[in-house]
Amino acid sequence: MWRGRRVVLGVTGGIAAYKSVLLARELSLRGALVDVVLTRGAGEFVGAVTFESVTRRPVHTSLWEAGRALEHVSLGQDADLIIVAPATANLLARAAAGMADDLLTALLLAGTAPVLLAPAMNDEMYADPATSANLALLRDRGWRTVGPNIGPLAEGASDRPGRMAEPEEILAHAERVLAGDGPLQGAKVLVTAGPTREAIDPVRVVTNRSSGKMGYRIAEAAWRRGADVVLVSGPTLEPPPVGVTVLRVESTAEMAAMVRRHLPDSDVLIMAAAPADYRPAVTRDAKLPRSEGGFTLAFESTEDILVATMPERHARLTTVGFALETGAAVEKGRAKLLRKQLDMIVINDALEPGAGFDVDTNAVTILDCHGVEQRVTLRSKAEVAESILDAIEAYRG
Ligand code: CTP
Repeated sequence: MWRGRRVVLGVTGGIAAYKSVLLARELSLRGALVDVVLTRGAGEFVGAVTFESVTRRPVHTSLWEAGRALEHVSLGQDADLIIVAPATANLLARAAAGMADDLLTALLLAGTAPVLLAPAMNDEMYADPATSANLALLRDRGWRTVGPNIGPLAEGASDRPGRMAEPEEILAHAERVLAGDGPLQGAKVLVTAGPTREAIDPVRVVTNRSSGKMGYRIAEAAWRRGADVVLVSGPTLEPPPVGVTVLRVESTAEMAAMVRRHLPDSDVLIMAAAPADYRPAVTRDAKLPRSEGGFTLAFESTEDILVATMPERHARLTTVGFALETGAAVEKGRAKLLRKQLDMIVINDALEPGAGFDVDTNAVTILDCHGVEQRVTLRSKAEVAESILDAIEAYRG
């Protein structure tokens, strides 16, 4: 997504400027051509040489450099994206007023590229009505913002927003801006991920090997495409994706209840989770002691969440299921598509090397209810997630 893309990274005079070096580095490593523009204040915190070393490109510091007279126009017009991180209260005020008294404000005024601001300042400055009004004005003009977050500030601990968003958070938001207005823009996407756990007693559970990776990659990719994403997650080690609302559940019954609650608001349901199909018929109140020497566990079926949603699906909902099979996968998957009345099914064959549970790669067959069949050969789960979303977008037209 970033290879060859032109990014202007404006850096203003706040201590968070040092974190923008990491942002510049991450963007450059991904193949973006990063033109860093430092304000005079930024130069007090981090030197141009530091940015030049990570971007391998000249750093811009002044409106008045000989031979660069028209950069205040060209930089912002040639760019695919302008990021300002950190954006101080002073920068927000000058931009909101339409001032052009240094290179950064001039290029913001002349620029045609989308703008993403990462405000960072003292918490009192952020809470001031002047700053709120300036930010509201800039958002009204279509500029996007990320953060500020609550966290320690240079001047000490704070329980109010002021701290700049972390570089990886800014990067994720930048990807969402750069992705533009695709078909999933504004769509409400409900994704499930991970295993569920069914209790044997207060300390022991029955679960499965699902890692949640496929569902998390789908949730991230859908958010990057502009969707509002709710991720209902069983227990996993995956960190919460930027921008996504993560709702944690434990058992299949809890996952079913959460899916039901969010279904009426959703445009797309993607059931990537591997909910337990069986649970202990009886959950004991107390831990079974080792001295018992052994025990027999009787299981009963849990609810099939997808089947349970059938009477509750509304006309605009696209329902996507998964099928994990061991052999004759496409035939079994097709049967599941029909039985669960799905719009689409993503079929995994766990016997294929590199596919299925607990690995970073997958190979799938995507089938829709009109008979369109697509094979996605072995690749990263992030790439498979993109193919699944492409298929969903194509299906929804
Ligand atoms: N699924 C569900 N509720 C369950 C179990 C599975 O909604 N209790 C969903 C999964 O999220 C997946 C699809 O159903 O999208 C198929 O899951 P899979 O485990 O392949 O199939 P099962 O329905 O469990 O059928 P079987 O065990 O017979 O293969």
